[in-house]
Amino acid sequence: MLKYIRPYLLWTLLSPAFMLLEVFMDLLQPQLMSRIIDVGVKNSDTAYIVRTCIIMGLVALTGVVGGVGNMIFSTKASYGFAKDLRSDVYRKIQSFSFANIDNFKTGSLVTRTTNDITQIQNAFSTCIRMLIRSPFLFIGGIVMVCTISWDLALVVICAIPVLALFVWFLLTKGRPLFMGMQQKMDRVNTVMQENLAGIRVIKAFGRSDFEKQKFKTANDDLCNASLKAMRMMSLSFPAINLIMNVTMILMYTFGGKMVFNGALKPGQIMAFSNYVMQILFSLTMSSFMLMFLSRAGVSVKRVNEVLNTQPDVSDGTNRDAQVTQGMVEFKDVSFRYPNSGGDPVLRHISFTAAPGETVAILGATGSGKSTLVNLIPRLYDVSEGEILVDGINVKEYELNALRGGIGVALQESVLFTGTIDENLHWGDDSASDAVIKEAAEIAQAAPFVSRLTDGYETALGQRGVNLSGGQKQRLCIARALVKHPRILILDDSTSAVDLSTEAKIQTGLREVFGDMTVFIIAQRISSVMDADRILLLDNGEIIDTGTHNELKQRCAIYREIVSSQLGEEALKA
Ligand SMILES: Nc1ncnc2c1ncn2[C@@H]1O[C@H](COP(=O)(O)OP(=O)(O)OP(=O)(O)O)[C@@H](O)[C@H]1O
Ligand SMILES: [Mg+2]
Repeated sequence: MLKYIRPYLLWTLLSPAFMLLEVFMDLLQPQLMSRIIDVGVKNSDTAYIVRTCIIMGLVALTGVVGGVGNMIFSTKASYGFAKDLRSDVYRKIQSFSFANIDNFKTGSLVTRTTNDITQIQNAFSTCIRMLIRSPFLFIGGIVMVCTISWDLALVVICAIPVLALFVWFLLTKGRPLFMGMQQKMDRVNTVMQENLAGIRVIKAFGRSDFEKQKFKTANDDLCNASLKAMRMMSLSFPAINLIMNVTMILMYTFGGKMVFNGALKPGQIMAFSNYVMQILFSLTMSSFMLMFLSRAGVSVKRVNEVLNTQPDVSDGTNRDAQVTQGMVEFKDVSFRYPNSGGDPVLRHISFTAAPGETVAILGATGSGKSTLVNLIPRLYDVSEGEILVDGINVKEYELNALRGGIGVALQESVLFTGTIDENLHWGDDSASDAVIKEAAEIAQAAPFVSRLTDGYETALGQRGVNLSGGQKQRLCIARALVKHPRILILDDSTSAVDLSTEAKIQTGLREVFGDMTVFIIAQRISSVMDADRILLLDNGEIIDTGTHNELKQRCAIYREIVSSQLGEEALKA
């Protein structure tokens, strides 16, 4: 965390410096007061009293300047620190691979970037305000009481270890409770985030009550965990009060006797009691600060977990590697999801897609089609074997170079808040209007876009809610085409598009992007029968590959799919 303090070092140092000013002024006050009593009142010297009062006023004013300066600088330092930390955590999350994201839950990442960083920020600002104040007030106070009376000071010095022991006990008990609290907070955020993202499904299935209950459970758990931690901490108030009061009683008992004996002046005992208050107050503050720190320590650990995670997909070392032809080779590739621990999802996949070839992947739900294509742009890394693009292992490419050459329309069509035009520019920021229009034409998005009153300037809601499923799919294809990739991956991207539109899209792709290597994943035979090659995937393995006609001749499973979708006659044709 120190790294994040460095840019704000000046403010971080100025803040305690101003605090020092305040502390000195605080320490002066009781002395001045005792003078008023022991000199001014005793000698009935009004002028002395007035003069000392004025000095006290000035001292108080200087103290205020110190306090305000401290507050301003600590705020500047802590907010700046938190801003930088937050942006680094966010940037780190952006660099995460799919597997990293699967590992941390989204809700937990939200808590870590918001609540955890706020905890650290609070602790940091409290520290630079109090870290100086407490020890100086404490040491200053001890020095002052010792100068007044050694004997009486012993009472105070005895109370300190008792208080310290108590604070230590609180801290060791508190830490696991704080950890529990943050974990419950994760849960609340995860439930809420998942719930809001899927609110339409929840309503459609009438699952609102179930979801409400789920949220209530998570929320109650958080409340209980917080109560448990706070109950523990609330012990500290009465306990510290008790220790303070006992010390005061002892001090007045002994101090009173000393005043009677003439060993101490009345003003001195007043000043003494004031210093004792300050000493005990500084100890109380320290204990709170330590609690704050202990809580922040938990958050620091959680934030560091994010910052120290190595994205398991990172840039390769070959800076010159570019996708130029679009040839894709799978060499004995196997894959299992890193955190699922189950069987491999893909087994011994080998095939080559030549530049310009259209390769279709056909297979039952869950057979591994999406997984297979996701390996090409390294959304996940292979477990065994290798994937070459233009003869270079995908792991050697810089990620931007690799992904820049590959256009992907993922199975789930996600668009972002903004206009259609902005969404299409996602593929390439600098794309001209002509390029955008061309991509939209080929993806068959242009007809419906032109029917919208605002055309390309139509604003899309979050995730593109104001479009139909098929419209979204077409925009996603257009978005992938805008950057003129060498390799295009369409993962079930025409499932919600009617047959004739789908045929137009495929024709357009062939005519305009003839040299592009295209992977088409589809469930419909009609979507794949024109492909140069069809990979038939079953349970993670390629069971046959060939053209529609070849497979129709020899592959029983393929024949079965054809006859179920197109009827017996299609097999004879
Ligand atoms: N992120 C993930 N973590 C763990 N397992 C996963 C993950 N994504 C998919 N799987 C598993 O991998 C297998 C293959 O999934 P995949 O999405 O590749 O299937 P698919 O052939 O694309 O299916 P569909 O036709 O339904 O899209 C499935 O059994 C699925 O449970
Ligand atoms: Mg899929």
